[in-house]
Amino acid sequence: MQFSLDISAAPHGSLQSKIHFAIRDAISRRLLPPDTRLPSSRDLADTLNVSRNTVIGAYAKLSVEGYIVSRHGVGIFVARELPEDCLSTVSTSDHTPAAPIAVAKTPTIEFVGEKPNLFEKGRELPAIDFWAGRSSRRSFPIRTWQRLITQCLGSASRSLVEYPPVAGLPELRQAIAAEILVTRGIICDWQNILVTAGAQEAFTIISKLFIRPGSTAVVESPSYQGVSYILTANGAHLIPTAVEREGISVTEVERIRSASLLCLTPSHQFPTGETISAENRARLLEWAAKAGAYIVEDDYDSEFRYENAPITAIAGMDMGRQQVLYVGTFSKSIGAGLRIGYLVLPDRVVQAASVVKSHLNLGNPWLEQAVLAEFILSGQYRTHLRRLRQEQRRSRDILIASLEEDFGRLDLRGTDAGMHMYWRLPPTFPNVKAISAAARELDIGIYSPAMAGAEEFGRGDNAIVLGYPALSHNEICEGVRRLKTAIESLG
Ligand SMILES: Cc1ncc(COP(=O)(O)O)c(C=O)c1O
Repeated sequence: MQFSLDISAAPHGSLQSKIHFAIRDAISRRLLPPDTRLPSSRDLADTLNVSRNTVIGAYAKLSVEGYIVSRHGVGIFVARELPEDCLSTVSTSDHTPAAPIAVAKTPTIEFVGEKPNLFEKGRELPAIDFWAGRSSRRSFPIRTWQRLITQCLGSASRSLVEYPPVAGLPELRQAIAAEILVTRGIICDWQNILVTAGAQEAFTIISKLFIRPGSTAVVESPSYQGVSYILTANGAHLIPTAVEREGISVTEVERIRSASLLCLTPSHQFPTGETISAENRARLLEWAAKAGAYIVEDDYDSEFRYENAPITAIAGMDMGRQQVLYVGTFSKSIGAGLRIGYLVLPDRVVQAASVVKSHLNLGNPWLEQAVLAEFILSGQYRTHLRRLRQEQRRSRDILIASLEEDFGRLDLRGTDAGMHMYWRLPPTFPNVKAISAAARELDIGIYSPAMAGAEEFGRGDNAIVLGYPALSHNEICEGVRRLKTAIESLG
């Protein structure tokens, strides 16, 4: 066979890598079929006018990769079986399409459910985006993370080839137990902690444990779609209960005789931002004991309080009764991309919850857990949170000041804590959907509670949910200015 090699199409790189690429490409595309004899390194070097060592290097790489074989004293040949043949499921020599098979009936998809509104990669983001609850890319401890990954991999031993403990790495669970004792007043044994793939998986585990078609779950109105959609998909009958200035209406809850679950966001209600007072928390615990219900305490952004000291978690007030399923997450305090959250469970639930977790995924990935454990145990998590609190408080102040400057006095809620605030628009303002569309024209992201992931049960406020940690101070000021332009453009 006449051997000609065009190395001009190869990507940039050394001569050796261009030769390697060109030969590998020709072999993969079967321009050089199996068993083709290749020129000797000397001949090819002469043809291409390059040094012989350059060709020897390229041949050596192709040989290690399995594209060519050297037969001693005979020559160099294209391998009979190529590396890609081992990966391909269809024999490359037979390209005949399979005859269509008539399918009489396929199983019905039994699952019925909705996906919460989330920002997923690929969706084009506006230049200035007030999306709620997004942590700042600039604040992610990337260097520390890189160092800890290397450190953990260095000591991984068998951990990467064995299944990790289903309930989570003991060192991470111990680190979390020590942390929430101090910050949330929760006294628990580390073995009562189950590491999950975010709060979302925690809600799934809870629903699988306690919900069957017709079970009753009391939820806030409005509530987080993440929890209400899972409950509904599992067949729960939801009782939406009004949220007032201090969170869920306790008087309304007390009228409900029995329920399986009461789902709350007590530190910073999603989306309205209200906080349930200590007194009302105690009343809700009393109610749960009488109604035979578990309280699902979603404490998603409790790390951030800007004015007063945090109120003890309901799980921390539940001394001995074990009436609370506490849900924590690192999505807000570090980043949602980690997908790590946890459940603090009553003794009687631990075993069954771990079985559900094993059905879902046999445990969270080892490396991320090991890194996070080290991050917390080394004290760097505390330092990170302290810095974030300061930065976010400053961003919050700037957002409030900009809004007040442009719009005067406002009905702003949830400003004392968390990562978003809730602006109930005056009656004279246009509908939030129209504002959001006009804002989009000006390249800013403005969201109604429903767009931001709230289930409103058909009775939503005309309100805007404003997230701020991910924006720079300039972006906040410019974003509010453009928001004003957008609202004015609607007349
Ligand atoms: C109310 C509420 N709970 C929990 C979460 C966190 O969910 P996850 O831990 O699954 O990222 C969020 C995120 O936006 C939230 O708004």
